[in-house]
Amino acid sequence: MFISFEGIDGSGKSTQLVLLREWFEERGRSIVTIREPGATYLSEAIRDILLSNKQSITATAELLLFSAARTQLVETVIQTSLDRGDVVLCDRYVDSTTAYQGYGRQLTLESVEICNSLAARGVMPVLTFFIDVPYNEAQTRMQFETSQAKPDRIESSGPEFFERVRSGYLAIAAQEPSRFIVINGVQERDAIHREIVSIVERRL
Ligand SMILES: Nc1ncnc2c1ncn2[C@@H]1O[C@H](COP(=O)(O)OP(=O)(O)O)[C@@H](O)[C@H]1O
Ligand SMILES: [Mg+2]
Repeated sequence: MFISFEGIDGSGKSTQLVLLREWFEERGRSIVTIREPGATYLSEAIRDILLSNKQSITATAELLLFSAARTQLVETVIQTSLDRGDVVLCDRYVDSTTAYQGYGRQLTLESVEICNSLAARGVMPVLTFFIDVPYNEAQTRMQFETSQAKPDRIESSGPEFFERVRSGYLAIAAQEPSRFIVINGVQERDAIHREIVSIVERRL
């Protein structure tokens, strides 16, 4: 079973991923958790380039780098884990590219779609939880994090960018309502977790 989490930084993706991981572990399931981009040597190296503030990166280069990182991950980790019968929980996947590079950076949705389908190789989550939190709330939450002292290159893109990203996520939700589930992220973490679990249980 392949499940992904989406939302802007500070929305609570990692928090919910850990809670869902524990829930599956208590039920004896073998779990693989992955952050995107990352989880392979190549993908982590690309992540460092993408998030670094040292240089500017054009929107198309950004799209292709994310896609390269993703396809390496799909072929070497996700596909093999799913073949073994593991539950794969992914912190971001193709919908991030649609929302950030498509809607946020305003690349054509056609070019994003080509890159996403090339990179994903037909491997798609059965469920995606979009944790919807207003930009200001997410910013406030991140200010309390010591590990995230400085915003990375993409996080520094400003409020209008993140408004477009959110509209992108909502557009995906309208197109794929059975896979892409919008969760109100402005709730207690346990309440969000219970909502996610009830949806997962229905799909098991
Ligand atoms: N439901 C919630 N309500 C309030 N704060 C939260 C909630 N979920 C997570 N947080 C806090 O917000 C910050 C960002 O959460 P995190 O899970 O790291 O988000 P993301 O992975 O989406 O960037 C963390 O400090 C986390 O403890
Ligand atoms: Mg996170």
